[in-house]
Amino acid sequence: MFVVLEGIDGTGKTTIIKMLAESLSKKGHKVFITQEPTRTWLGSDVRRAIEEEKNGYTQALLFFADRAEHVKELSGHSQDIILCDRYVYSTFAYQGAQLEKHMGLQNALKWLESVYEPMRLDPDLVFLIKVDPEEGMRRIYGREKKEKFEKVEFLRRVQEIYDYLADIYGFVVIDGNRTLMMIHEEIFQRIKSKINK
Ligand code: TYD
Repeated sequence: MFVVLEGIDGTGKTTIIKMLAESLSKKGHKVFITQEPTRTWLGSDVRRAIEEEKNGYTQALLFFADRAEHVKELSGHSQDIILCDRYVYSTFAYQGAQLEKHMGLQNALKWLESVYEPMRLDPDLVFLIKVDPEEGMRRIYGREKKEKFEKVEFLRRVQEIYDYLADIYGFVVIDGNRTLMMIHEEIFQRIKSKINK
């Protein structure tokens, strides 16, 4: 089973995935944890492109190069429960937000979906964890640091695109303004009921 967690920066996805892995392993399931950008050199190149603020097209194509290899790896884990920290919907939401000023959101999403098509591997469950962008930024940078207005505005737009994608793709939307324990419990129950279906 292929499970994806999505959300803007600072939603606690990475910690929740570790908690889920522990709970599912205790129930006897074989779990494979993974993330995008990946831990390979392709993933490192993606991170470098983000740091150097390369343009949206460059970033999108690098994310897809990383993903094309990642999808091959994932297909080798079809017997496991794959817990994936970000997937193609991150590209749709983040690079969609970057590219919309050049080509409009609908054209950007159409282009991104067409690049994804040949490598497509659909998850069984996608969780969208939602927190307020200001809260997300505070969680990452600490309360003492001044918020980067631009970054918050950008994440607000990313969140809107995620909401739009949630309707189209049928994500399970999770309220991230709660304790990690509560978020974990809700997602864990939903994965369990999907397994038992
Ligand atoms: P993040 O999950 O924070 O990875 P790490 O903690 O390992 O560096 O992802 C890094 C950033 O990349 C994050 O701001 C989201 C962004 N991102 C995209 O813009 N597009 C994508 O397709 C993915 C997977 C991530």
